[in-house]
Formats: sequence, C-alpha cells, structure tokens
Amino acid sequence: MTDTNHGDMFSEEHLKPFLPDQAFKARALIHDQALYRKAEADRLSYWAEMAENIEWINKWDQVLDDSNPPYYKWFVNGKLNVAANCLDRQVDKGLGNKKALIFEGENGDCTTLTYSDLLKEVSKFSSVLAKLGVNKGDAVTIWMPMVPEAIITMLACTRIGAMHSVVFGGFSPEALKDRILDSKSKVLVTADGAFRRGKTIPMKSAADEVLQNCPSIERVVIVERTGIPFEKVPNRDFTWTELISGAESDFKAVIMDAEDPLFILYSSGTTGKPKGILHTTGGYLVGVNATFRYVFDHKENDIYWCTADIGWITGHSYIVYGPLSNGSTVFIYEGVPDYPAKDRFWELIEKYKITVFYTAPTAIRSFMRWGNQFPDGCNLGSLRLLGSVGEPINPEAWLWYHEHIGKGHCPIVDTWWQTETGMIMITPLPGVTPLKPGSATNTFPGIEADVVDDQGRPTKTGQRGFLVIKSPWPAMLRTLYEDHERYEYTYWKQYEGLYFTGDGAWKDADGYFWIMGRVDDVLNVSGHRIGTMEVESALVDHHSVAEAAVIGKVHEIKGHAITAFVTLKEGFEGSEQLAQELKKHVGKMIGAIARPEEIFFTYELPKTRSGKIMRRLLRDIAENRELGDVTTLMDPQVVASIKDGFKE
Ligand code: PRX
Repeated sequence: MTDTNHGDMFSEEHLKPFLPDQAFKARALIHDQALYRKAEADRLSYWAEMAENIEWINKWDQVLDDSNPPYYKWFVNGKLNVAANCLDRQVDKGLGNKKALIFEGENGDCTTLTYSDLLKEVSKFSSVLAKLGVNKGDAVTIWMPMVPEAIITMLACTRIGAMHSVVFGGFSPEALKDRILDSKSKVLVTADGAFRRGKTIPMKSAADEVLQNCPSIERVVIVERTGIPFEKVPNRDFTWTELISGAESDFKAVIMDAEDPLFILYSSGTTGKPKGILHTTGGYLVGVNATFRYVFDHKENDIYWCTADIGWITGHSYIVYGPLSNGSTVFIYEGVPDYPAKDRFWELIEKYKITVFYTAPTAIRSFMRWGNQFPDGCNLGSLRLLGSVGEPINPEAWLWYHEHIGKGHCPIVDTWWQTETGMIMITPLPGVTPLKPGSATNTFPGIEADVVDDQGRPTKTGQRGFLVIKSPWPAMLRTLYEDHERYEYTYWKQYEGLYFTGDGAWKDADGYFWIMGRVDDVLNVSGHRIGTMEVESALVDHHSVAEAAVIGKVHEIKGHAITAFVTLKEGFEGSEQLAQELKKHVGKMIGAIARPEEIFFTYELPKTRSGKIMRRLLRDIAENRELGDVTTLMDPQVVASIKDGFKE
C-alpha cells in the first residue's frame, strides 16, 4: 500500500464540513455526544442498553462471550423471536393500524399492509411453511422480485426459526442452483416472473432448468405476479394463493436462542465460490435496530424508502429488520428509476411523501447525468434526510444529492458497512456530525475501527492503509456457512485480533474515515459485489476459453466496469461474435450484473514467476496508465502484446 498523503485535500473549499441544520438538530434523537461517551466509557453496558429496545422472552446472562475468538457470542442465553419483535410487538404497542409496508409495482399497482395485516400474512405463511415440512434450523431459498411476498416469506422464516437465504432476483438460475446446493434448502419460494421495464421475465420456468439438480428441494412455492405460464410438478410445486387460502393466521412465533442462525446471505469473495455469510438472531437484531433508529433519526410519521433490493444485505437490514423492529413505515418499489421515465423515483417521493431516502452512489451518478429537470419537476419537499450506501460517494455526487434532492437542508448519512458486518458501522449521526462530502465520517457508537498498515500498525493521519474493526460487534457474521476455515482465513488471519474488512482507507486530522474501496479481488459494480474469480470461473467454463483474468476498470457511473482478458484454447479465434457469446455465457452462469463490459483476447496473460496473474498490470493497461512495477513479470513481451491489442 502506498504512503500517499491525503491530508492536504482539506484545504479545498468544497470539502469544508456541513454543520447540522439547527432545525434538524433540535428535533433529532441524538443531538449531542452523550451516546458516544456512554459507549466509550463502557462498550458492553452500552450494548446491553441498546438491547433493552428489543423484546426478549428471556434476558441474556452475558452481553458478550469472547472466550473463543473469532467465534463470538452475543447476549448469551437470551431468548427472542425476530419476527415477533417486528410485528406482534408493534401491534401490542398499539401500532396495529399503522402502515408497515407500502408497495408500488412497476405497473403502478399499490398495496398497503398495516402492522396487523402484515402480522396476519406472516402468520399464515408461517403455518404454510410448517405444513410444507419446514422446521427450526432448516433453510429456505427465496428468489423473487421486489414484492411484499418476499418480505412476508423472510419474516415467516424467522417466525418459525428457519434460515432464509435470499438470492437476488437478477442472479441466473445457475447461480441460484449453487446457492441452493450450498445451503441445502428444503423449500424454494419464487415467482412466475418479474416485471422489468414493461416486459416480463420468467422466473419459475427458468428455475425449473436447474431444480432437477437440486436434490434438497422438496417443495416450491410460486407467487403469481406476472401471469407468465409455468408448469407444476405434482406434490412439489404449489402456488402461493392455493397454500395461503385457508391457512391459519395464529402461528405462534418460535422461541429462538440469541445465537440461533437467522439467515444466510451469499456474497462474493476472492474465490469463485460465493461465501454463505451467517447471521444469528439476538445480536443482529440489536445492531440493526439501534443503527436504524439513530442513523435515520427515526420519527413516528416517517415514510422511509431504501431503494435496495431485498436480495442484498441492505434490503435485509434496512428494509426489513431495522425499520420494522422500530415500527417504521417502509415504502418499497418494484421497478427501476428510469422506467417509464427518468423521474420515476422523484414522482414516487412526491406521491408517497417520502421523508427518508436511502440509495447508492451509482444511482446518484446516473441521476446527475440524466439532468436536474427530472427532480426539479417534482415536489421533494417531504424529504428530511438522505442516505448513501454501497460504495464510496465522490464529493461531486454528494454535493449534487445535497443540493438537488435534499434542497440544501437534508443531511446526508454516508453509511459504510458490509454483508459481513450486518449493520451500519461508520456513519454520521445526522443531528450531530459535521459532514464532509465523500467521507463516511465516524464509527457508530460502540464500534471500534482503525486504519492499519500491512504490519497491523495504526497509520498516521492522511496515510492510506487497511480498514479494520478492532472489537466484536453485535450484528457481526458468526461464520461462513459450513466453512469455518474460510471464515478464519478471510477475516481474522491478516492481523491478530482484528477483523479485516478488505477495504482500503485513510483517516484525516479530525479522525474521519475516507474509504477507498476494495483492496482484494472483489469488484464493486453499481454498488454490487462481484468477485473477479467468479467471473473468471464462468468464462473458463466456456469450451473455447483456456484462461481468463478479470479486472474492474474505473467507470464513471458504475464504479467499476468488468473487463476480461481471455486466452483461447488451440483452434479458437477471438472475434466480436465470440466476445458476445462469452458475455452471454457469464450472464447465464451468474446473472446480467456480472456480464463483462469488454472482452479482450490475448495470447497469454501477464504472470509473475510464481504463476500469479498480475491483475494490477491489466488494470494499468485498461485504464491507460503508465505501467507499474513489471520486474516480477515472467514474460514482458506479453504486456506489450496486450497493450497493442488494447489500442486497436
Ligand atoms: O467496499 C465497501 C463498499 O461495499 C463493500 C461491502 O459490500 P456488500 O457486502 O455488498 O454490502 C454493501 C452494502 C452495505 C464494502 O467492503 N461500501 C459499502 N458502503 C460504503 C462502501 N464504500 C465506501 N463508502 C460506503 N458508504
């Protein structure tokens, strides 16, 4: 890691801190440093206090058991149920008639579910799952578009104590199969299809292509969303409607131990195989409950919209469990921001009087490019707070978001976290933290992070290093599903006692964190995590490919654009047609989000003498930079030939 000094960036006018608006501060839940001080004084009693905001069936004996690192246990022997905290408890508190979910479909259909309605639907589907043979500890895979039934299924799983494994609807059936096989799911809940830009895309019939190779699946439940025809395998496949009609609505929530598994969520790592990140019950709920309340400064009458898909951790923590456990009203939208027109999101904010809006920098950069006329044409006056997540936000995008969406008065919470962390870790608290565009600012109270060099020593101010978390936190992953070795190796082996995030970062003179993005072979494409090795494995799966190296080329909107260098087997010639075929193949193996933007054919890949592909060099070539150190390169000719090919 280079010792670049970034400290002087602060003299720049546009990076001066934005102080919290007085009116905002006056109403904010957190408007001074007291919570930070409390957490610093005694971290564990602070987390115990946070846990008091959850309803426990039995209180815990110990806040944290750290006797067997890196296997930490939080709220030891505590008993609770997550769905009961999100639903029954809210109804008991008198919020039965409050809107829990407001849904708008791509085609404009709307559904609203109050907390009582949602409790009823979740209870019914819990009864259905139980009847289908799902027990506590079993896994259920959810592969669905953004419809209320996806959330109902997640909550029904947690109600009966089954682990859900939500697979992003945009992933391909092949990717779905890998995740079903790994989790050994008994049940798949899917839809006949999804709406996408006015068209329909089949899901159930696509899943059928792989289901015969998924022996663990005993039952398939199909939500009929689009009317796309599909076939039903007798005794295996059932429609949602036929199962739910007549289902009992008084299914009692199962008592869960704080450390019982809650869900698995697959995420990309540095190998071809996605990691099954395992979260457990008590600590996860405490973490997402507290962060949602304070980061989004929860207000009773908020209409909160997080634009993430349910298939990502943001959808889990900040569409479902964080907001509902706080009794918030959550808006969800099925479609994309530019269909039928580029003002779709702003129209929805006006229509539903959204107060808190949480989205990703890649979307903000697209909004900027489309032009101010789209947000300017809608009334965004209901907004009071904005959020950003998924990748570093460039100051230009931050300032545009602040001015054109927040009209200069909405604070922006730039929240840094990961699938593994489960909860927001580095973030402003909007009523107190002076904001610097491009910085996620400080750790959330009770979180201890730092930037270290390759020896694990804290870096100096302005010096770039690796972002680490110094002590366990409640919503942390507990392991990788059935792969403890990879869990230890990936996160805990770099530095003794420190959690390695995989991100580069530096701290400024005020102690603010500036996240620089991944330092491993993980790409961030439009806020989505994709492993270079996953794409490489998909490419070499094609019969023509001998070897492939994938890199992320810096992209103005997407963050990274996937660029592949491919060496073909004897007898194959690189051509535009073959490049198209390979892109399609990656789409089939993983999903459209992983399709390379560009493919270059090369007679060999640059490798070190030990045979490691030098991706750094390929990045330099792709981005037209002066080539870095090539002294370890086995065959310098290779680079020259790739460079020549690149210019053509
Ligand atoms: O590189 C960081 C980036 O996203 C990675 C985590 O990706 P994932 O597990 O898919 O979760 C995304 C949603 C939480 C991180 O390692 N990242 C996430 N948020 C930020 C960010 N980078 C900079 N600033 C952020 N606010």
